[in-house]
Amino acid sequence: MPSFTGRTALVTGAGRGIGRATALALAGAGADLVLLARSDGQLSAVADEVRERGRTSTTVVADLSTVDGISRARRTLSAVGGIDIVINNAATITPMGPSTSVETDDVVAALILNVAAVSAINSALLPPMLAQGWGRIVNVSSGLAGRPASFVGGNAYVTTKAGLEAHTLNLAAEIEQPGVTANVYRPGIVDTSMQAWIREQDPQGIGEALHGQFVTYYEQGSLITPEASADALLRHLSTSGTGEIWTVASAPETAGSAPIRP
Ligand SMILES: NC(=O)c1ccc[n+]([C@@H]2O[C@H](COP(=O)([O-])OP(=O)(O)OC[C@H]3O[C@@H](n4cnc5c(N)ncnc54)[C@H](OP(=O)(O)O)[C@@H]3O)[C@@H](O)[C@H]2O)c1
Repeated sequence: MPSFTGRTALVTGAGRGIGRATALALAGAGADLVLLARSDGQLSAVADEVRERGRTSTTVVADLSTVDGISRARRTLSAVGGIDIVINNAATITPMGPSTSVETDDVVAALILNVAAVSAINSALLPPMLAQGWGRIVNVSSGLAGRPASFVGGNAYVTTKAGLEAHTLNLAAEIEQPGVTANVYRPGIVDTSMQAWIREQDPQGIGEALHGQFVTYYEQGSLITPEASADALLRHLSTSGTGEIWTVASAPETAGSAPIRP
């Protein structure tokens, strides 16, 4: 397992799922944590788990789906300071359903959370990384960004994730400091509350084909654990590559690491 001792990592959406697993994996690899989400109780529980691993943690309660929420989060994160690694993981899969039925406000909120908040956090935290000559930015996307037509009923999600990937690759090309990298991570199909939420939806509302696809993932045992996805992310994070689209399957192997299913 790579070591991040002496580094401080921000993980957004750190209260559960892939974000929680990534935060705990980073703590296990020696990093101190800044944990961000809306649910204070979930963040506090993860903060306790980080401390059990001997690392410090700071929690930031913020709603990244509004411009005001992003502004407050940027001020708080700049005040916390010292962030070397950013894992932009928080996202929404909503609104779902036929494109003729979705509310514009919900599409705007998805664009803000899944794209604009990431851009705003990166622009706030990049200058100190450039100044110190080392930094890691990882933006958590989805394999669906590479095959948007396969996710009929999830137009907002694939649109935002494609935008997020464009933001990341363009930012990586803009960064001239070789010690500072920006990469996309596609985490695989992961057993989290996001997957469970889709399975709980009325098939009529989000589309029977889409609903059936997610039920099949679950029933066929295709879901990987958040911990397996986080492990692959950390193995990528130990490399110096930039402007790359990382996947679970393409994670470099390290001694003793378990094989990861795509
Ligand atoms: N699970 C999968 O199969 C899968 C597949 C491909 C990509 N992904 C991506 O992986 C990432 C994590 O997904 P997940 O499955 O772990 O999701 P999850 O279990 O739903 O967790 C999402 C996290 O984001 C936070 N969050 C949501 N809305 C927020 C907001 N407005 N402001 C701040 N934080 C917010 C949530 O906390 P609060 O609700 O407390 O704010 C939670 O901590 C996402 O980028 C997702 O698109 C997941």
